[in-house]
Amino acid sequence: MRLVVIGSGYVGLVTGACLADFGHTVVCVDKDASRIDRLRHGEMPIYEPGLEVIVAQNVRDGRLSFTTDLAGSVTGADAVFIAVGTPSRRGDGHADLSYVHDAARDIARALQGNTVVVTKSTVPVGTGDEVKRIIHEHRQSSAFSVASNPEFLREGSAIQDFKHPDRIVIGVEDEHASTVMAEIYRPLFLNKSPILFTSRRSAELIKYASNAFLAMKVTFINEIADLCEKVDADVQEVARGLGADKRIGSKFLHAGPGFGGSCFPKDAMALAKTAQDHDSPLRLIETTIAINDTRKRAMARRIIRAAGGNVRGKTIAIFGLTFKPNTDDMREAPSISIIQALQDAGAHVNAYDPKGMDQARAFWSEVTFHASPYEAAENASAICILTEWEQFRALDLQRLEKVVAQPVLVDLRNVYSHEEARRFGFAYSGIGSRSSTPTHVIDLAAARDRLVEAV
Ligand code: UDX
Repeated sequence: MRLVVIGSGYVGLVTGACLADFGHTVVCVDKDASRIDRLRHGEMPIYEPGLEVIVAQNVRDGRLSFTTDLAGSVTGADAVFIAVGTPSRRGDGHADLSYVHDAARDIARALQGNTVVVTKSTVPVGTGDEVKRIIHEHRQSSAFSVASNPEFLREGSAIQDFKHPDRIVIGVEDEHASTVMAEIYRPLFLNKSPILFTSRRSAELIKYASNAFLAMKVTFINEIADLCEKVDADVQEVARGLGADKRIGSKFLHAGPGFGGSCFPKDAMALAKTAQDHDSPLRLIETTIAINDTRKRAMARRIIRAAGGNVRGKTIAIFGLTFKPNTDDMREAPSISIIQALQDAGAHVNAYDPKGMDQARAFWSEVTFHASPYEAAENASAICILTEWEQFRALDLQRLEKVVAQPVLVDLRNVYSHEEARRFGFAYSGIGSRSSTPTHVIDLAAARDRLVEAV
């Protein structure tokens, strides 16, 4: 099949590369000439494990190419995927569809033959109808179909998710579109990945409902973690017990500092807005958004408490800045508000992240970025693990203990345990277990202050 993917960002690039890997001929289009130029030279605009290799292989085999010429590539294509961004609209949180509408207009001008136009971008229910209307307005002579094929790719494991999906959702309104879409995904169908054909509107809503549900699940376990701390229970044990029930499932029950990223916050907000507009408010989702927002600054207060209650003039070391591991993406990362709150409280922040530091520099002035966690920890009154990068699972705690000003470990991802940290002299504060709240650190600091006063 001859396929075109419009938008060579995260979703477009992964989709294009994987579809080429299935054996289709794929042209990835982007308006950004320098991005296309870099891609032609094998340079990836994002960090995603495995992407560079799969792009290089398919370019070499002649199945994958990059261009800024949208019209030239769309003409005669079997399917054109729209994979442009749908950011939150400034002011009201609705999805900004201007890039999708622009792409529809550009496609319309070049359409010839019976092409299927597929929205891959995350778009509110009804967007497919609007895409169809726009194309029809500009190109009444050509036959075409509009389908919805949402992506469920997690950053950091996007290639694996594309090639081994739990399901492929395809929203279609005509026979031709379903035949073409089935042919495109045939290699996965042979692997027995279930393909779910639905109406176009249902497909659009499945994507938002999935992300909103997962965001709600994370928020649920975060609130249970807070309760665990009050009643002396352990959230990791509770999550194991909960998740063993197949109706609930064990995934997305890892308590932490709150969800972030390019999808959950934006999609939950856009779904809530759509629901309000249709007079059918989704109060669970609205509450999820509100809880998650307040959680981040609450995490900063937790760090301040653990460091002794007053961080003015003190150094706090932050390990991990990206919203999750294996990505360089800083969008809506909890680190953004947590570090801001620490700075508001007068702390100096030392930071280290394996991949995210370039993107992170834009978010705060006065943060000092370091080349290793050990450098970042020097003279720190508390170390905080904010993102669960693999390399933080095997930190040399003995070495860290020697360089810090005060051995306090605030572990917002529960990478370590109270016992492990204590073995190396650290007071430990994790998420969702009472024994890990560092009351003795507060006592120690208070005792020191009392001593100073007495002297
Ligand atoms: C998400 C969806 O999973 C994916 O299907 C969709 O298409 C795009 O959005 P992604 O944003 O890459 O993917 O990240 P994901 O792994 O889903 O994590 C989202 C956020 O939830 C992260 O901030 C993560 O740290 C947090 N999270 C996730 C938890 O705090 N606990 C968990 O148990 C799982």
